[in-house]
Amino acid sequence: MKKILVIGAGGQLGTELTIKLRTIFGKDNVVASDIRDVNESIQDGPVEKLDAMDAKALREIVKKHQVEEVYHLAAILSAKGENNPRFAWDLNMNSLLNVLELGRESVKKIYWPSSIAVFGPDTPKDMTPQFTVMNPTTVYGISKVAGERWCAYYHHKYGVDVRSLRYPGLIGYKSLPGGGTTDYAVDIFSKALKGETFQCFLGADTELPMMYMEDAVRATIELMQADSSAIKVRSSYNIAAMSFAPRHIYDKIKTHFTDFQIKYEPDYRQEIADSWPNSIDDSAAQEQWNWQAKFDLEKMTEDILMNLRVGVVD
Ligand code: SER
Repeated sequence: MKKILVIGAGGQLGTELTIKLRTIFGKDNVVASDIRDVNESIQDGPVEKLDAMDAKALREIVKKHQVEEVYHLAAILSAKGENNPRFAWDLNMNSLLNVLELGRESVKKIYWPSSIAVFGPDTPKDMTPQFTVMNPTTVYGISKVAGERWCAYYHHKYGVDVRSLRYPGLIGYKSLPGGGTTDYAVDIFSKALKGETFQCFLGADTELPMMYMEDAVRATIELMQADSSAIKVRSSYNIAAMSFAPRHIYDKIKTHFTDFQIKYEPDYRQEIADSWPNSIDDSAAQEQWNWQAKFDLEKMTEDILMNLRVGVVD
C-alpha cells in the first residue's frame, strides 16, 4: 500500500480529507502533519509535527515514512493573509516550492489546492471561465495564482504529477475554518443551533461560490485517482457546486429554526468578497475527469443540521 502525507492535516479541509483517506488506504498509511496539534479525530494514525517551510524536516518525514503521495494543504487564507501579507506570501509560496521539489525526487504525486481567490475585480463575475483574466487583490490570491503557475511549470519542465482544484468556499461541520472570507457560512450553523443572533461580516446580498465539504473531499480524491492522461489542466481546475448570498443561507436555516435572527455588519472582508466571482464554470473538470457535485444549498443545510442535532460535534 502506498504511503500518503497530508500537510496541514489540522485544518478545516485537512481533518476531513485525512479521515477519508484513512478509510480508503488504511489508517497506518496516511501520515497527518501540522505545525499545530491535530484534531482528536485524526490521532488514530501516524501524526507528525511539521513546519512546511522547513524543507529539511519535510524531506526527513517523507524519507522516514517512504511517502509517495503528498496533499499539501497548509496555507494562510484570504482574510488572515491581509493582516500579515509578507508572512502569508512566504508561507504559501515557500511551502509549495518545498513540496514541488520533492516531486522531482521520490514523491510520485502531489495535490495542492488553489481557490476562487485567484480571481479579481476584472474577472467576469458570472460563470467565471476556466481560463480568464485573474488579477487578484489579496496576498492570498496572488500566492495562489503564482502557485498555479509553479505547478504548471514543474509539470511541464520536470514531469512532476501535480494536480490542483480552485475550491469555492468550503462548508463543513466536523472541523472549523480559520481566516477565510467564506467562513461565515460555517459559523452561521453553530449560532443557529445555540439560539444566538448571527452577526454576519458580509452584506446580505454578497453572492459567492460555495461547496459542501463532502463534495470537496470527493472532488480531491477523484482528481487524484484520475488517469494522468485525463488531466489536461496542470495549473488548477475550476470546480463548482452552488452559489448563494448570506440572506439565502439564512432563509434556509430559518425554515428549521424559525426564531433565528441575523444582523449584517460588513467589515474589511466585504471588499475581498466583492472582488470574487458569483458563480463558476466547471465544465473542463466535468468533461475531463467526470466531476459532478452532489450537494446544493438545500441538501447541504439538511445534512449539516441533521448531523449537528444528533451531536456528531460538540
Ligand atoms: N475560503 C477561502 C477564503 O475565504 C477561499 O479559498 O479565504
